[in-house]
Amino acid sequence: MTVRISPSILAADFANFESELQRIATADLIHVDVMDNHFVPNLTFGLPMVQRLQQVTPKPLDVHLMIDDPDRWAPGYAEAGAYSVTFHAEATADSVGLARRLREIGARAGLAIKPATKVTDYLEILNEFDQILVMTVEPGFGGQSFIESTMPKLAALREVVVANGLDVWLQVDGGIDERTIEIAAGAGADTFVAGSAVFGVESPGMAIATLREHAQNHSH
Ligand code: DX5
Ligand code: ZN
Repeated sequence: MTVRISPSILAADFANFESELQRIATADLIHVDVMDNHFVPNLTFGLPMVQRLQQVTPKPLDVHLMIDDPDRWAPGYAEAGAYSVTFHAEATADSVGLARRLREIGARAGLAIKPATKVTDYLEILNEFDQILVMTVEPGFGGQSFIESTMPKLAALREVVVANGLDVWLQVDGGIDERTIEIAAGAGADTFVAGSAVFGVESPGMAIATLREHAQNHSH
């Protein structure tokens, strides 16, 4: 299975984004955490940041919207050229409608669920999305511990993806390091967000290589 590593720039040096991006040249995607201080108790970047990042990196931007009212705001990120736009299931009443709009604009559509949100309601509509993000921490902050009790949701997702031959990426985000990436890969994840494990060490390039290797060794 193809393993993808998506470093979260939430853990990067905010005063030096351009050089921080150069340190993760081997990443598959760049994870951008958009937080609005309403859906989560933290405030980060918005649309102008995504537009500018787009100009300085050729890498696909993996935008994770932790915001209220994604129906209003998410299409703008797709229009700005984000490779994928992932919104939270808890924040909209019309996940399918929004995913269809994002795809129409040309972005991959992602659906994220918080640790306490069940995946069962979404298993029958997986074909409407390009990726499902199973949060492995409570969204809002980097540097938290991996919540292992979320893993059965990945196993359930992987089973449906395989059974129906779907091309839906299964992403995990939060507390991913050399050890927990093995657990998540074993449970069925193929796309891994890592913030502190990549930017918090001396060599982000080596961290990406190690994470990739550990995931590959444990994926199906
Ligand atoms: C948390 C964010 C994550 C965060 C991950 O709400 O969605 O992307 O940056 O950071 P680490 O890898 O440090 O847990
Ligand atoms: Zn994230």
